[in-house]
Amino acid sequence: VRDQRITSHCALVARAFGTGGITYSGDKDENLEKSIKKVVENWGGPFEINYEKNWKKIIKNWKGKTVHLTMYGLPIRDVLDGIKKCKKDLLVIIGSQHVPGEVYHLTDLNVAVTNQPHSEVAALAVFLDKFFESKELEKNFKNKKIKIIPQERGKKLNKLPNNYCGRFCSSTP
Ligand SMILES: C[S@@+](CC[C@H](N)C(=O)[O-])C[C@H]1O[C@@H](n2cnc3c(N)ncnc32)[C@H](O)[C@@H]1O
Repeated sequence: VRDQRITSHCALVARAFGTGGITYSGDKDENLEKSIKKVVENWGGPFEINYEKNWKKIIKNWKGKTVHLTMYGLPIRDVLDGIKKCKKDLLVIIGSQHVPGEVYHLTDLNVAVTNQPHSEVAALAVFLDKFFESKELEKNFKNKKIKIIPQERGKKLNKLPNNYCGRFCSSTP
């Protein structure tokens, strides 16, 4: 039985580490979608969550490059520069319990974040951080309602006015 929090963590990592959205397959989960949309509403975007029953369609219709994260793939340090040079929209594929063999052949590249088994959440986070060269850690999310004011200790939140959408927006106070 899959712990649904793992799928939720994949979506949260995909958003926090700089992607534009996640498409998931398998069982549709309205609660997952609702909770991720709520995060976007409060903490900003843009970030989309979509469901597609037919995972093959996602890969086949993708208009850029596709990378499948798997411990059986090529070491990330050997292929990362090539992936970055492509300058095409990137679809990053992560698995859960069982990954069908076809995925390994349908994708452009199978990439290992170490050749040791671990987790889709960790693989995605490490891949994205290397791909975006840690610049995603400074990402300014748009249309957020809340923002953390970093503190040495304790918690401080800034509740922003409704029309606040970051420094790229002319309505910035
Ligand atoms: C917990 S693993 C289980 C994979 C499953 N046993 C299978 O059929 O291959 C879930 C996912 O984590 C990711 N993953 C785990 N270890 C990885 C590694 N060393 N490098 C890249 N991705 C990894 C892969 O995307 C994998 O599909």
